[in-house]
Amino acid sequence: MESPMVKVHDKHFEPFIPENEIQIEVTRIAEEMNRDLANKDPIFLGILNGAFMFASDLYKQLAFPCQITFLKLASYSGTQSTGTVKQLIGINRELKDRVVVVLEDIVDTGVTLETIIRQLSGYQPAEIRVATFLHKPNATIKKVKLDYVGMEIPNDFILGYGLDYDGYGRNFKEIYRLVD
Ligand code: IMP
Ligand code: MG
Repeated sequence: MESPMVKVHDKHFEPFIPENEIQIEVTRIAEEMNRDLANKDPIFLGILNGAFMFASDLYKQLAFPCQITFLKLASYSGTQSTGTVKQLIGINRELKDRVVVVLEDIVDTGVTLETIIRQLSGYQPAEIRVATFLHKPNATIKKVKLDYVGMEIPNDFILGYGLDYDGYGRNFKEIYRLVD
């Protein structure tokens, strides 16, 4: 039953979180949402690319009226010398006065999520909640409230279940960790 190591580009990864453990946590989050959000007509915002698989597995298990759409953070060079600015794109629905639930694959430093929350706030939603499948608490420097967390993990580089290394590995059903 033990899965073998995988090689992606030049790097080796070992099995870390098996498929059944992933699905247990996704189901737990879905059950929490089925209790919390049933009468709130929420709109789920999946953050591309990484969250597509978590979003899909979770959304199938929600048993109340709700919508989903997907957003992306696009990088463009700022006019100042400060480097890249990330803009949230793809918002094509009215978010004003809605309960929005951000779906993320992983919160590492928290910089990405903070950027997302700040930009979403401009649309004046009634409430913003965050669900992330993974959290690296020891790496998080931007403290953002996480309402639903699948698993907390150490500061290892991981891939699979939507997460990639240089674009590859998102298709793996289980999560792997970099072997150094
Ligand atoms: P943050 O802004 O540092 O929280 O990073 C968030 C983004 O970095 C995630 O949405 C992922 O796309 C990527 N990321 C963070 N840690 C990992 C990892 O271990 N493997 C693959 N991608 C990661
Ligand atoms: Mg991501």
